Amino acid sequence: MTTHNNYIHSQWSSRFVFLMAVIGSAVGLGNIWRFPYIVGENGGASFILIYLAFVFLMGLPVMASEIMLGRHGKRSTVGIFTRFSREYGTHSGWKVIGVLGVITGVLILSFYSVVAGWITFYIYASATSTFDNLTTQAISNIFDEFVGNPERLILWHTIFMAITAVVFIRDINAGIGKVVSYFIPMLFFLMIGIVLYNVYYFDMSAALDFMFVFDWQKVTAQTVVVALSHAFFSLSIGMGAVMVYGSYLSDKVPLVSTASMIVISDTLVALVAALMIFPILFSFNLETGQGAGLIFKTLPIAFAQMPGGIAVAILFFVLLFIAAWTSSLSLVEPALAWIVERSGWTRAKAVVLVAGLAWLLGLVTVFSFNIWAELKIKGKTPFGLIDSLASNIMLPLGGLLIIIFAGWVLPNAASMAELKLKRDFVYRTWRIVVRYFCPIVLFIILLVGIVKFFDNA
Ligand code: TRP
Repeated sequence: MTTHNNYIHSQWSSRFVFLMAVIGSAVGLGNIWRFPYIVGENGGASFILIYLAFVFLMGLPVMASEIMLGRHGKRSTVGIFTRFSREYGTHSGWKVIGVLGVITGVLILSFYSVVAGWITFYIYASATSTFDNLTTQAISNIFDEFVGNPERLILWHTIFMAITAVVFIRDINAGIGKVVSYFIPMLFFLMIGIVLYNVYYFDMSAALDFMFVFDWQKVTAQTVVVALSHAFFSLSIGMGAVMVYGSYLSDKVPLVSTASMIVISDTLVALVAALMIFPILFSFNLETGQGAGLIFKTLPIAFAQMPGGIAVAILFFVLLFIAAWTSSLSLVEPALAWIVERSGWTRAKAVVLVAGLAWLLGLVTVFSFNIWAELKIKGKTPFGLIDSLASNIMLPLGGLLIIIFAGWVLPNAASMAELKLKRDFVYRTWRIVVRYFCPIVLFIILLVGIVKFFDNA
């Protein structure tokens, strides 16, 4: 028996809260910081098309499977597999899905918090007029000086991690639930506001041309790996974040339509984020191929010149902060739920352990930008190594195991009941997708990802 005696599994207070929590998890730095620049690097519309195909053909089935398993098991992401093995006689070794997921969550949180710390600093810097009246060169120097200074990165990494950790002092409804119910709607309003501002002041057509022009020449095996791993990263699938949120979901909520709403929202936000950023860059003739520095080095140059730029800058970084904050919550919850379930610790005590570990590991990312900047392992910085291990290998691997469990191991009756499907055409399609299509495609791409990982390129 691995569950603590007094253990009671919580439940979200409504479907709305669940939706906001999962959308909050999905919409993050991946959508607003990473998506726009990888579209730029990987051939615009051709990449978007491959990405969309993965989101709907692979992402949606894995998302639905995670919610299904979580809700059916009503335990932590490790505990459900112990429970299934008791009830259905499945092998208890499947709990490796939960354990790997907990590790992946801590790995991702470690660098996520560092980058989110930069965003927190940029809110402060915009509000205290750091970017006013500076030359273009001076603005991009601010970023280089900032990341070159380990103490300052540690300070903002610590602030962000602390703001994440406090949410876990309360239970899921009073903690995560409250945060997402207020801030996710606010995030949508901010986003619409910035896009309307763009439509009014800037030229959207250049951005649309850039995003929707096909360039198949740029599509390589690497592109396909990037598109798939980004789909998983952006949807928060493959590590049990959605599974643990699903475990708090009421049985009454329809699963497939809920999963579809989440996937559609996440995708729309990514596309809208690109429409929020590219018009600004094009109107000021700025570089779009800046990579990870895009929003930190390039955008502030435009903010410094546009009407009401300070306000737009603050709103933009606040929006990013909300997106990052609600995402990092879901990186903590699987580990936390597992610890609390096993040991009966309070959430407050457990979060000190989880956030503390991720904070420590985050120092590797911090130093990758300064004192270890020259250190290359397999052609990557230590940060790049953690990122690609987690995103290109662990998430697809987790997704593969989850879909195999959902398609082949969990008894038919259980999945039919969860999905509320009868033995009809829809259910047969679902079976073919989760049993054959998804595992085969995932397996191939995972192999390519592993080869690329060990290949210095
Ligand atoms: N989806 C988030 C983003 O796009 C990041 C994230 C949060 C995540 N929780 C996750 C990624 C769980 C993978 C797994 O920024």
